Amino acid sequence: MSETMVMMADRARECAEEIRKYDEVQLLSHIDADGITSGAIIAKALERAGIGYDMMFVKQLDETIVKEIADINPELTIFTDLGSGQLEHIANYGVHAIVSDHHRPQGDTKFHLNPHLFGANGSYEISGSGTTFILATQLGNNRDLADLAIVGCVGDMQYRKYGKLVSLNKMILDANPEVIASVTDISLFGKQTRPVYKMLQFSSDPFIPRLTGNEDACIDFLANVGLQFANDEKWRRWIDLSEDEKKNVTSSLLQHAMQSGMSSYNISRLVSEGYILLSEQEGTEMRDASEYSTLLNATGRYMQAEVGMQVCMGDRDEAYIGAQDLLHTHRKNLVDGLNFVKDNGITKLSHMQYFDAGSTIPETIVGIVAGMSHSSAGNRKLPIIAFADKDDGYKVSARGTQELINRGLNLAEALSIVCQELGGAGGGHDIAAGATVPFGKKEEFIQKLNAAIAAQLS
Ligand code: C5P
Ligand code: C5P
Ligand code: ZN
Repeated sequence: MSETMVMMADRARECAEEIRKYDEVQLLSHIDADGITSGAIIAKALERAGIGYDMMFVKQLDETIVKEIADINPELTIFTDLGSGQLEHIANYGVHAIVSDHHRPQGDTKFHLNPHLFGANGSYEISGSGTTFILATQLGNNRDLADLAIVGCVGDMQYRKYGKLVSLNKMILDANPEVIASVTDISLFGKQTRPVYKMLQFSSDPFIPRLTGNEDACIDFLANVGLQFANDEKWRRWIDLSEDEKKNVTSSLLQHAMQSGMSSYNISRLVSEGYILLSEQEGTEMRDASEYSTLLNATGRYMQAEVGMQVCMGDRDEAYIGAQDLLHTHRKNLVDGLNFVKDNGITKLSHMQYFDAGSTIPETIVGIVAGMSHSSAGNRKLPIIAFADKDDGYKVSARGTQELINRGLNLAEALSIVCQELGGAGGGHDIAAGATVPFGKKEEFIQKLNAAIAAQLS
């Protein structure tokens, strides 16, 4: 075990001891896949420890929400996948808190479990579900929840930096082979649930020239490889293919990618490590960490995080069917969002590029669209910034690349500096961050952020 893991486990033990003093606690978590799995992990652990809880999910933590919690006045609140950026508010409102999070800390508190405090980076070494899993293992025998911990960090795209999970995430993966396994395979989305030609057709990240979005071309491509499309009148999915068939399709796809001028970065992303949940049924979204995390995002990002959490808690009836319905809408919104960016273009400045979705892309998914557009339509030499309207201002989502980080980029820092000047609040990670900017300040924000990023990269 690494020194960091030992220190995190120590801190988690202190937090667990504090939690055991209470019969009932308030839980507060984030609405994305990492937040939902974090919520489910702590809820299961509490259930097993005989501690009651009330669950609350929020889009983001700000002063208003901290005040709401203070008004409820719970004896103890456990914040998961959020909290580290709002420790000042938590202290000011006198909320007795356990914070299990991986965002860049702003302030500190006694029961604070965050990788940044122990020399690790919360953008790729461990996510909120991972810190919460460590907390759960100190509350009881909860190692079987490691699969949810991996779903959470996959939802936060923590494998992106190296094309696989590393560091604390990898320790959680390797230590729990009964519930989670890794496989190197084609990286396209939908290996468990989609007919193979559909999996190709809907590949948006990376975008594959001439295949993405083109059903006929995908069918021709697979026919040329000699793939049998159906068995007993059922479309074959990737998991139905033999190892030889998988190898054939993969190598033909790589050839196609090279011949059609895909960047070497995107070609290298066509094959990657994937994660299989061994106790889940084959052919369901929950079997594959990436499909599972998208299913959860499809609930939480539409204010239905409880539905996703029920799935994580084991519901395979009503909640699962509800989540699948939401998934259809989510997919359609992502396709529409990507098309919006393609049709309306991205504006380039000296040190960043941006697009403004107005009210056409929901603010809860504009960050996902920004990340996906960055690899397809965007220029990867510049960070990408997206705007979308929300009730109390403009939602900002920012995404960078590892190369830019190496040159000094830190988006969480840049956003929080600019927000301090203009009002609004922002934070997150070096590589991916978000903020809310007050109405009327968009232009000024753009100029100031461009300057702040320029300063980081100089
Ligand atoms: O709130 P939170 O920490 O959960 O969100 C992390 C965000 O960072 C996700 O939207 C994820 O897609 C993004 N990310 C990224 N590239 C990485 C790591 C994370 O875009 N290398
Ligand atoms: O919303 P988006 O996906 O762009 O968020 C990227 C990262 O920034 C996430 O980790 C999110 O939790 C964080 N964020 C934040 N404060 C905000 C908005 C987002 O810390 N106001
Ligand atoms: Zn997270």
